[in-house]
This record gives sequence, structure tokens and C-alpha cells, in this order.
Amino acid sequence: MFISESLGSNEQGHLTIGGADAVELARTYGTPLYVMDENLIRKNARLYRDSIDRYYGGRGRVLYASKAFSCKAACRLAAEEGLGLDVVSGGELRTAMSVGFPPEKICFHGNYKTPEEIDMALDYGVGRFVLDNALEVERVGAAAAKRGIRTKCLVRITPGIDAHTHDFIMTGKIDSKFGTPIEKGAALRFIGEILKTEGIELVGLHCHIGSQIFELEPFRHTAEVMIGFMAEIRDTYGAELSELNLGGGFGIKYIESNDPVPYDKYIESVEGVIAEACRKHGLALPFVYMEPGRSLVGEAGTTLYTVGAIKEIEGVRTYVAIDGGMTDNPRYALYQADYTAAIANRINEPKSERVTIAGRCCESGDLIQENTPIQKCESGDILAVFATGAYNYSMASNYNRVPRPPVVFVRDGQARLVVRRETFDDVCALDVDE
Ligand code: LLP
Repeated sequence: MFISESLGSNEQGHLTIGGADAVELARTYGTPLYVMDENLIRKNARLYRDSIDRYYGGRGRVLYASKAFSCKAACRLAAEEGLGLDVVSGGELRTAMSVGFPPEKICFHGNYKTPEEIDMALDYGVGRFVLDNALEVERVGAAAAKRGIRTKCLVRITPGIDAHTHDFIMTGKIDSKFGTPIEKGAALRFIGEILKTEGIELVGLHCHIGSQIFELEPFRHTAEVMIGFMAEIRDTYGAELSELNLGGGFGIKYIESNDPVPYDKYIESVEGVIAEACRKHGLALPFVYMEPGRSLVGEAGTTLYTVGAIKEIEGVRTYVAIDGGMTDNPRYALYQADYTAAIANRINEPKSERVTIAGRCCESGDLIQENTPIQKCESGDILAVFATGAYNYSMASNYNRVPRPPVVFVRDGQARLVVRRETFDDVCALDVDE
């Protein structure tokens, strides 16, 4: 009945999240409210870590892709669970460093690192840069050389695998703003330049083929292509790269029909491909990084709203208005993303209605879901939307000057505030008074 193991119900017929009564949480912290089940995030982190340990021994590390959900509490939790971190901006980097995240376990990504961010990352001593383009190679190299160091870098490659269509057309992902394609020798030439750049020690390759992927095959194929390319680099330049970062992208359950592959199976399967490809090409086994974001935090999150007006347009549809919307969850507006919703204060009743959940912004497309089944509801009910732990808080906006909701962590039924609610004063705080 519930799409995540965080969820349940109690004697009052209320939804529970990580053992805490969702209606109580809404009463205590107000709505809209992001609730995260801390135990589930920790469990996911351990599953990944244990599985990497089992199949790669000391030759692997999980980096949490903090873009999925970045705040101090999330970085602290990742550090406590022994994960490394993927950051793509000065803001994500600062958030991690502000809680004392070990810099050597941070990997700095992105296709546009500003000169200030490059300096900041070097001054903090981040473990790895993932270089995207020639300008970045020049800037990172010069900034490192100025400090008298050679900074360890990976280079982002587009292996030409289009995981979203499940179509392995090798040209599929060449049209990407990220990385450099293997096709037509572009990546090989680029690597030749990087190897000559002062201040840079090229240690490995990086790729990321997409997100919310359910099949194993695109990941297996990618690993094979990347190891093959490492062999080509060795044969061309005599450089044996020792690290391979395979990115993230593992799917989660948003709706009943989603069927994610267990991480363990994925990791075992990809390790097999890497080992075989290395044998074939006579390469030593590389150190492997994995960068899950969504699959670590997504299912742990639930967003709670208060139902406002219910508008039935006869013969068309019923709109259920909520006190949030695209400002706290833009994913339906952006990607027509699937979600499961329910009425938290009547969780055990059958879902007898089909409604459109409408946000409060001045925008017709501000919807959370259309034609979705929920229990019979009325104004004042608490509406829960599940699996909102990834790319919701991190993509929230202040459109219409709507303050961002707070984040609460729940652990064994106990809740604690980890990000406070924005106030109207916060919303106006950066405006310069005449
Ligand atoms: N590594 C790199 C280099 C990435 O670009 C990403 C995600 C990840 C790791 C983590 O991928 P995950 O395991 O979370 O799939 N805003 C979109 C998702 C964008 C993903 C961007 N990159 C959404 O809401 O679905």
C-alpha cells in the first residue's frame, strides 16, 4: 500500500513517517513541510557502502550527489555514514565545509566553475576536480600551478549512451552540454592536452549517463565503453589512469509500477563488467566511484500540505488546491514527473477520488499531479506527496515570493528541525532599501 518503507499508519488512521504521526508533524511545524526519514537515508547509505565494500574491497567509494538534497544536516549525515560528496557549486561546497566535511572526500563537478570557485576549492583542498572543458583545464591548471601543486583531476567523458530512451545508439548523447564525446576522437585529443597541462594530475575518467534509470544494461555498457577508452588512452599516451567515476542515476519508486533494481545487484553486475573488460585490455582494476543522489534520499522524503479550496469543474476535473506547489516541487511542471499522493489524516480510507493537485502560484502549469487517486478530501485536510526527498528542496524557489518550507528529520518517531521555514522577512532580506 505504501511506496516507501518509511511510511505507515497508526490507530488514529493517520499517516506515519519514520514512526512519527504526519498530522502531528504538520500541526507542530506547519505546512508546507518537508519530512525526511533519517533512518532510511542511513540505511540506503549503508547498503551502498556495504555493497561497494563487498564487490570492490578497498577500491571503491560512494559519493553522495548533494545536488539531490543539500543542507548542513544532509552533509553531516553523509560524513557520519562515511560517504564522500559530489558538489557542483561554491554553495554546495560551502555547505559541506561549514560542517567540517573532509575535503579530500569531495569531488568538484559541473560544466562552469567560476575562477572564485576554483580558488575556493583549491584552498579547501578538495580531493578531486572533474574537468569538463578546455577553459576549465586552463583555469584549474593555472590556479594549481600558482600554488605550486598538481591537483588530482578526472575528466568528464560522454560515452555516447542514451539511457533515457534505452536506445544504445552511440551518437545518442553526443549532443550534451556536459563532457567531451569519445566519438570522432574528441575526448582522446582533449586528454592529450590535459596530460600536458601544468598543475594538473589526470588520474581518471568520469561519466554520468542520466537519472531515474531502471535498467542495468546501460550501466553495464557504459562501464565497458569507459574501460575500453582507458585502454585507448594507455595505448596512445602511455598514461594508465587509475580511477573511474561512473556517476549516479539509479531509479527510485515514485509510483507503484516503478521497479528499481536493488543497488547490490547493480554494483555486482557492473563490477563484473569492469573486471572482465580490464582483463581483456590488460589493465589494472581501477578505483571506482559511484555517485548516487536520488536513490539515497528520494524515497525518504514526504511533503505535507494543507488542502485549501476544492474546485469541481463539472464534466472536466476537480482541482484540489494546496498551500505549496511548484515553488517546493517543480518536478511535475518541469518533467511531468510521477508522484503518489494521499490524505494523511484519512490514510486508511480507500482512494475513491481522482483529482488534480494544484499549487498556489500564478501559473496554470503549477500542478503537482493530474488525475491522481486520493481519498475523499476536504479543505483543511493534510495532503501528503511521497518520494519528494530528492530534487525538491534543492530545486525550490521563491516564485511569487513564496517562502520556502522547512525540513524536518524524523528518526525512530522523533522529529527535529534541520532547516527552518523562511519568513516573509527572509524573502525581502536581500532587497536594498533606497
Ligand atoms: N553525478 C552527476 C555528475 C550528476 O550530474 C548527477 C545528477 C548525479 C551524479 C546524481 O544522479 P542521481 O543518482 O540523483 O540520478 N533535477 C532532475 C535530476 C537531475 C540530475 C542531475 N544530475 C530531477 O529532478 O529529476
